Amino acid sequence: MSIEMMERITARARKFWKIAAGFPPNKEEVYADHATAQDFALWGERARDDNAPPLTALEYGCGGGSDTISYLTRGLRVVAVDINPSNVATTATRVRDHARGLEFVERHAVWLLEYSDKIQPVGGLTGEVDTGLRPPFDVASSHGVLHHIPQPLVGKVVAEIYRVLRPGGWFYAMLYTPELRNNHADAIETLTKRHGITAEEAFGWCTDGEGCPWAEAYSHREAELLFEEAGFEMRSSFEYSDGFFCTYRMKKRKR
Ligand SMILES: C[S@@+](CC[C@H](N)C(=O)[O-])C[C@H]1O[C@@H](n2cnc3c(N)ncnc32)[C@H](O)[C@@H]1O
Repeated sequence: MSIEMMERITARARKFWKIAAGFPPNKEEVYADHATAQDFALWGERARDDNAPPLTALEYGCGGGSDTISYLTRGLRVVAVDINPSNVATTATRVRDHARGLEFVERHAVWLLEYSDKIQPVGGLTGEVDTGLRPPFDVASSHGVLHHIPQPLVGKVVAEIYRVLRPGGWFYAMLYTPELRNNHADAIETLTKRHGITAEEAFGWCTDGEGCPWAEAYSHREAELLFEEAGFEMRSSFEYSDGFFCTYRMKKRKR
């Protein structure tokens, strides 16, 4: 894909994904299996270990901030990143409402996490924006985000997530499955013909609403290739929601 096309998709993503402000702030209560897929209980146990230093999490593509709140309420410290500044602002507001007083840093991802160390935070809970929370992180999570980013950009994002994790750190990533795409096969065909849009755009319209700029499905092998290319060791995967979602759990090598 050309740089121009990726830039076009990114520009449209910034506008379209403002809808994430309407996503529920308590996803783990709304969707059965979400907390299991993310191992939230396990991370809560680890965070309660008084002998260990505080755990830090990165949420990439925070949307309405539900996972940020899930980590914060279990005692982790969180940096929330999104391509859309209004989503980090929504996340900040919700943190104030649901996880008051917990340590949280907002960042506006430009279009590559590569730039995230350099970009300016867009605000802070107490006006004290930089609380010193920065890489390396113990855990990173990107739920329902990477399948909306086309290659080669998505490969660069995954490589950056790998870079900002500590050695031995974990990454959780939920991707759409081929079962989900097959479920929409007829509609994708109709939409591509009727509107002259790509199959990826049509899949996005089916899963996330008209105007969604891009969505792809990943087989297990395709997901492994994406993550292993960046250096991750795949540890397990968890399919849920009728096999339409798959959360991959992987580790950064210790050295
Ligand atoms: C389907 S929403 C998921 C939000 C949240 N993770 C959740 O599970 O509710 C996708 C999110 O990814 C963000 N996003 C899309 N492309 C991105 C990119 N290139 N870099 C960072 N975030 C991106 C969108 O702004 C949106 O908040």
